Amino acid sequence: MYTHGHQPAAVTQHAKRTAEDCAAFARHVIGTDSQILDVGCGPASITVGLARWAERGHVTGIEVTDEILTTAAATVAEAGVGNLTLAKESVYELPYDDGTFDLAYAHQVCQHLSDPVAAIREMARVVRPSGWVAVRDSDYSTMRPYPSSDEVTRWREVYRAVCRHNGAEPDAGRHLYAWFRQAGLPQVQMSGVVQQFWTDETRRNWGRSWADRCLSTAFARQAAEYGYADRDELEWIAAGWRAWADNPDAYFHYVHGQALAQVA
Ligand SMILES: C[S@@+](CC[C@H](N)C(=O)[O-])C[C@H]1O[C@@H](n2cnc3c(N)ncnc32)[C@H](O)[C@@H]1O
Repeated sequence: MYTHGHQPAAVTQHAKRTAEDCAAFARHVIGTDSQILDVGCGPASITVGLARWAERGHVTGIEVTDEILTTAAATVAEAGVGNLTLAKESVYELPYDDGTFDLAYAHQVCQHLSDPVAAIREMARVVRPSGWVAVRDSDYSTMRPYPSSDEVTRWREVYRAVCRHNGAEPDAGRHLYAWFRQAGLPQVQMSGVVQQFWTDETRRNWGRSWADRCLSTAFARQAAEYGYADRDELEWIAAGWRAWADNPDAYFHYVHGQALAQVA
């Protein structure tokens, strides 16, 4: 079960991401003719950036539902990139020959998988020798607001409980090093980035997005269904997010883990 869901409140937030922000740690291994696989490409806002970097190469973006692939197709059409195809596939069973790609990339995907090691192993399989696997995931336990907020603290607890109930690891960023090694990629280059929200625009966007997501997405439904938070508590958490978002002194940060490894 995918914790966020593909409802507008979640997808709109994901669609703000860019290759420049989210794939900078792999930029130096991408050439203009690279063949790239973008696993769990979501709304494809990063994917189109990868396609521009590999302007004489090709990017394949894969997703698991028609719903998000429709959104991704609209992003690709609007961007006008011709070297990008989308396919409905799961990372666990990629329909590509061994060694097909120069780079397999996954952004904020492994944190939603029940077997991230199998996923990374399958990504490595479809990469050519000396090609690369690049994965970036956040670490939800590092998510902290100023000023501290009982509602945001409770949101973090509920989110992490729902994610774990789904068999996934919300603090994935700190697990990537071990997962790569377990997947047969021992030479891992780890890096980290602190994500921050403090400008009026980013603070309001992040806080209001989570207020909406606590009420209108698969996360809200699962939190109630699994018994971690009822509707009244979710309304209380959402109000806390809105109050945080409207406070001009408010600030938020968390850590992304980034793993990059060359295939033998
Ligand atoms: C948090 S979103 C990230 C989307 C995009 N990479 C981004 O950062 O904007 C995670 C995505 O992983 C996809 N996903 C989940 N399980 C998957 C699987 N087995 N194979 C491929 N994608 C999967 C979900 O459908 C979802 O769109």
